[in-house]
Amino acid sequence: MDQILRITNNIKISAEIEQKPKKTNKKTKKAKNTPKTNDFKFLNTLQKGQNSEIYLVENEKDKKQYVLKLIKKNSISNDKDLQRLFAEKTILCEIKNPFIVQLHHSFLTETDFCFLIDYINGGDLYQILNYVHSFTENEIKFFAAELILALKAIHKANYIYRDLKPENILIDRTGHIHLTDFGVSKKLEKNERTNSFCGSLEYLAPEVLKNQKYGFEIDFWSLGMVLYEMFYGIPPFYSQNLREMQKNILNQEVNFEGVCSSEFKDLITKLLSKDPKKRLGSSKKGIKEIMKHPFFKEINWTNFSNKKSQPQFIPSFFFNQENLIQNENLELKKNSFPSLEKTNPTCLDKILFKDFEYDFRK
Ligand SMILES: Nc1ncnc2c1ncn2[C@@H]1O[C@H](COP(=O)(O)OP(=O)(O)O)[C@@H](O)[C@H]1O
Ligand SMILES: [Mg+2]
Repeated sequence: MDQILRITNNIKISAEIEQKPKKTNKKTKKAKNTPKTNDFKFLNTLQKGQNSEIYLVENEKDKKQYVLKLIKKNSISNDKDLQRLFAEKTILCEIKNPFIVQLHHSFLTETDFCFLIDYINGGDLYQILNYVHSFTENEIKFFAAELILALKAIHKANYIYRDLKPENILIDRTGHIHLTDFGVSKKLEKNERTNSFCGSLEYLAPEVLKNQKYGFEIDFWSLGMVLYEMFYGIPPFYSQNLREMQKNILNQEVNFEGVCSSEFKDLITKLLSKDPKKRLGSSKKGIKEIMKHPFFKEINWTNFSNKKSQPQFIPSFFFNQENLIQNENLELKKNSFPSLEKTNPTCLDKILFKDFEYDFRK
């Protein structure tokens, strides 16, 4: 009975997603170009988590490298999980922005949901920060401006991103940002606020910790956290003890040690306002309020939007996965690569997940 209830609920979600006729047409045309499972050669494992696996693959046809993100079907156990999965796909399909990773295909195998995404080859900001420890204010300004433009596009489409942290900020070899991982993003209806508890603890806004209703401002809090970490190498309220860290987020003032400009200090202080109503960006002007802050006074936003700005930090060759690949014995790793072999979709798959493209071995 439970199973039937779950399925019925899920069908409702699929049906909601399908109410967008324009998209359906596009997909029918695109379906011809859907990659076949045996088009891919696995090159490396970038990350293996409990629910998702990220692989670097090469498309044997065009010889281009992509990232294949697999989300385990058995990690989707309720409506919320399913909604998030569809939100991740919908955002990647809907929002075309130079500072957000691009999705090429999504498809199902017997065990996984698969996203084929651009491979961003300079590393993520977490890896890079581990190596360089901190950035200069000029470097931070550049990254911040691109991040703000990515958030602006996400908010414009009425999504809260909810997971801004260094691991989800990818840098390409030319030094530009690509935001990834929309696994916990949420669409807000007009004037809607939410109170789901999700995101990564270090970067959670006080109102989320307090279980209060929240909106787009939580992304501005996380922006403040990330910019601080870029300068100081550690998030402002960090503690190895999670309770302690939670207390710090709720009560502690931001500590600005060392030399930073008064504009940078002012920006971070205003982004990290514990009261979401006083936080920079919370007014009706939204993110434009942040763009107008004196820290960004010399930024030409039109140039940035057109990607005509000059990157300030180029990731070292050290971070290129191609380098790692040469150093690893692929033969040994082959057993740990997943199979993309397909079986015919089950009836349930056809009903619940028909918004995903299928791809069959011929
Ligand atoms: N398109 C990509 N190009 C390069 N590396 C990526 C890409 N997507 C993800 N990664 C790497 O894999 C990690 C996890 O990916 P992510 O999509 O954030 O998965 P999860 O939902 O498990 O956090 C990222 O932090 C990054 O290091
Ligand atoms: Mg992530």
